[in-house]
Amino acid sequence: MRETPEYRRQCGNHGYDMLSPITVKPIAGALGAELSGVDLGADLPDEEVATIRQALLDHGVIFFHDQDFDTEQHKRLARRFGDIFNHPFLISEDPDIVTIVRNPGDKRIVGEDWHSDTTMMPEPPMGAILIALDVPDYGGDTLFASQYLAYEALSDGMKGMLGGMKALHSDRAVAGPGARERDQHRSTKSRTGSEWVETLSAHPVVRTHPETGRKCLFVNHSYTVGFEGWTEEESKPLLDWLMEWGNRPEFTCRFRWRTGSVAFWDNRCTKHIAVDDVHHAKRIMRRIQVAGDRPY
Ligand code: SIN
Repeated sequence: MRETPEYRRQCGNHGYDMLSPITVKPIAGALGAELSGVDLGADLPDEEVATIRQALLDHGVIFFHDQDFDTEQHKRLARRFGDIFNHPFLISEDPDIVTIVRNPGDKRIVGEDWHSDTTMMPEPPMGAILIALDVPDYGGDTLFASQYLAYEALSDGMKGMLGGMKALHSDRAVAGPGARERDQHRSTKSRTGSEWVETLSAHPVVRTHPETGRKCLFVNHSYTVGFEGWTEEESKPLLDWLMEWGNRPEFTCRFRWRTGSVAFWDNRCTKHIAVDDVHHAKRIMRRIQVAGDRPY
């Protein structure tokens, strides 16, 4: 609905139910909205879950401030949107949870490249809910990019070619032996030993969002390694171009965290990157991913 004439015509609560206590305010032209008037730690009524889901679909990523919920409340919230997705290679005591930790002196962080999450899976997660538990006074922001806009701004010629293509997604750069060096320099660890086996999936380069029906680009720096039926050498120039194209500033928004802030992103139509600019600081986040379906 975002940026359609119908959307602009609607006033007040940016097109949402005027009786809902939740307000929805876009934060950038491309994607992203801040929601207020909701306590995510509560057992939410169905109407509030429906408003949150609609805002997610409309804006790609939604943000909340001043939230305070524990691990069990976090799981309950995630389950309102689907099954919990267990991260296959990040090491965590509770398989439903990933704690993303940067300690002072870490030289590498989780999410330091533009990516959609765990796209090497045959059914990548539909989204993730991330809460800031302890964040620095400045820095450590997260950027998001709309892959709807990245697709829609392509030429008809490029859209036509990409429409018939599949890309290969692997976790070989972010887990297993290929990630050992990176892992030594960051606090949150991946599986890098013999317990890791590569996961490889082919997904359409242009996927159709299963709920909005809109098309979006679906390639990213962390996981996409080439095009199906193309050599690595043939794939690289187009893949590099597409990945950079997808991050153009006009497709993005930037989120400034406070302790208690929450981001909920739609992993099917957005990419994100954690900005690594607070080397002296501690930054602790808790994330739960929500299961998704096979891209088509
Ligand atoms: C992630 O990539 O999920 C982490 C994002 C962040 O820590 O800001």
